[in-house]
Order: sequence, then C-alpha cells, then structure tokens
Amino acid sequence: MRVTASAIRVQDLRKRYPAFRKPVDALAGVNFDVARGDVFGFLGPNGAGKTTTLRILATVLAPTGGGAEVDGHDVVRDPMAVRSVVGYMPERSGAYPLLTGLQNLLYWGRLQDVDGGGLRERARALLAELGLEEAADRKAKTYSHGMGKRLLMAQALIHDPPILLLDEPAGGLDPQGIRFFRDLVRKLQGEGKTVFLSSHILSEVEQTCTTVGIIHRGRMVVVERMDALRQRIGEGAVARIEVECDLPSPAVMQAILGVPKVRAVTPAPDGIVVEAEAGAEVADEVTRVLVENRVRIRAVRPAQPTLEDAFMSLLGGGTA
Ligand SMILES: Nc1ncnc2c1ncn2[C@@H]1O[C@H](COP(=O)(O)OP(=O)(O)OP(=O)(O)O)[C@@H](O)[C@H]1O
Ligand SMILES: [Mg+2]
Repeated sequence: MRVTASAIRVQDLRKRYPAFRKPVDALAGVNFDVARGDVFGFLGPNGAGKTTTLRILATVLAPTGGGAEVDGHDVVRDPMAVRSVVGYMPERSGAYPLLTGLQNLLYWGRLQDVDGGGLRERARALLAELGLEEAADRKAKTYSHGMGKRLLMAQALIHDPPILLLDEPAGGLDPQGIRFFRDLVRKLQGEGKTVFLSSHILSEVEQTCTTVGIIHRGRMVVVERMDALRQRIGEGAVARIEVECDLPSPAVMQAILGVPKVRAVTPAPDGIVVEAEAGAEVADEVTRVLVENRVRIRAVRPAQPTLEDAFMSLLGGGTA
C-alpha cells in the first residue's frame, strides 16, 4: 500500500452540472488537503458545493475537471479502492426504507465485504452504540429523523474505515442529538481516524474540528487550523462589549456613539451592545457616559468574537 502524507488531497476540483438553460458550476477549482488524523470541518452556506465535494470524494459522483485522492487512491481511476477506505454518510437518506435497521447494515456490510461471521455481531454492536438497539428490527421508514441519521452513521462505520466523510451529521438534530454526534466524532478522532464533515453549525465545527475549510460559491475561501483561525478572528474582528443596564434614552445612545472608535450602539434584551473598531478599548469611556447620565449599570463585559463573526466577515461582500 502506498503511504501518503494526506488522507484527502483535492486539486483544482471542478464540477459542472448540466442544466436546461445555463450549466451550474458547483465547484470552480477547489484545492485543499486533509492531514491524517485531522477532523476537518467543511463550512459553507447553502449551495456552496459541500455535498458535491463529498459525493465526489465518496465516488458516487464524477468530477468534470481536476482531481482528488483519498488515502492515495484516485477517485476516478480507482473508485473501488477509495470505497474500501471511506465511510460515507450522505446528507439525505441512503437507507432502504423497507428494510429494517439491521437488514440495512447487513446489506452495507456485505457490499463492503465484511466477513460473514463477524458481520452480524458488528452490526448489532454498532446499532447498540448508536442507540438503535430497540429499533434494530423495525423498518427504516418508521425511524425518526434523528434515528435515520444514526443509521446512516452506522452504515458509514460498518467496515471500520480509516476515513469518514460525513455530510451534515448533525443537520436537523436537537441539542442532545448534536451532542451525541460531537462525542462520537471525538471518539473516532481518538481512534486515529480522519474525519471530514460538513456543517452549518458553526459551534459544532468550533468545538470538534482541528482544521476548518470554508467554501463559498464553489471556491475555498479559507483553509486554516482552528487555533490559527481563532487567533486571526481575535485580531481582525470588531471589538464588542455588552452592557447590562436600563435602556438609555436616545440622547444617551447618541452620546455613546460619539465616543471615539465606537461604530454602533444597539439595544439588547437587557441593555445595550456597543461595537467598536478592531482592537479598540472603549468600555471605560462608554461606562463613564452612562454613569454621567445616571443610567443604572448592572454589568459590563467584552463579548468574545466568534467563529460566526469570522465566517460572516470572510463571506462579506461575496454573498448574493
Ligand atoms: N444534480 C444537480 N443538478 C444541477 N445542479 C445541482 C445538482 N446538485 C447540486 N446542484 C447545484 O450545485 C450547487 C452546489 O450544491 P451542493 O448541494 O453541493 O451545495 P451544499 O453546499 O451541499 O448546500 P447545502 O448546504 O444546501 O446542502 C448548487 O447551486 C446546486 O443548486
Ligand atoms: Mg449539502
């Protein structure tokens, strides 16, 4: 077996979907690498090209230009080798509705050449791990959304692949379901697996991923280590403070807006939010204006810039 540094390597990847009037360039030359053992969060707004990328990596869709390698295997020339090393969890259902959960897993296991004797045992163990033990013998069409997601995850894991491609594993789940998948991804990372997951949930990516890639309109806007991105956000984002206080009168709001470097003052449910230029320290001055105007203050705290801020600023100007 060839040993390559990257688990996934994507070079100038392109996908043009034919369409009735105008073809859609879903991927317009995408480049990125995923290191082994990494948890790579693939973020992007609706229609950015995430599912298209994942489907190409899982070899269910052919690219129209450029290329990709998974574990050193080319997705076009050697799809069977790619399939043996990846577990793919599609965004929408990929389970057979009339088969039970267990039957679905056995079917996928056989497709993946999991040895007959061990397969049933492994399927049962996976169903238990994913909280589907009691639903194992029910038809998949009777599963709730969250149960369906867990069954798709079990299918992705049935052959114990070293690389996981998860298309919005936590999409549409309740907080408990989101936490379940977060813990599962951490466990997989602990086992040394490489995880490539797409998401809209910024906090999910922030908490579980070691690297983040942001795609927008078929192009990668940024690929960066999570810690480096966080640091960069801290430097570049607006400084924001939250003041818990009685709601100031319009005249006082105006006075706060007059504080040097303050850009915006907005009412919040229990006070105001003040935004200032990046790196500006305006808390003392804002507090002074409020005190002078006899506005009762309960708390003043700086708000940490979030990944969401960075996401919005990176996409700023580019969105339709
Ligand atoms: N089969 C198809 N035929 C034509 N256009 C398609 C097809 N599949 C996707 N597209 C288009 O390609 C673009 C990228 O779609 P894709 O599903 O990859 O986005 P996504 O990032 O996964 O979005 P979402 O967050 O909504 O899941 C979109 O403009 C979409 O309309
Ligand atoms: Mg998608």
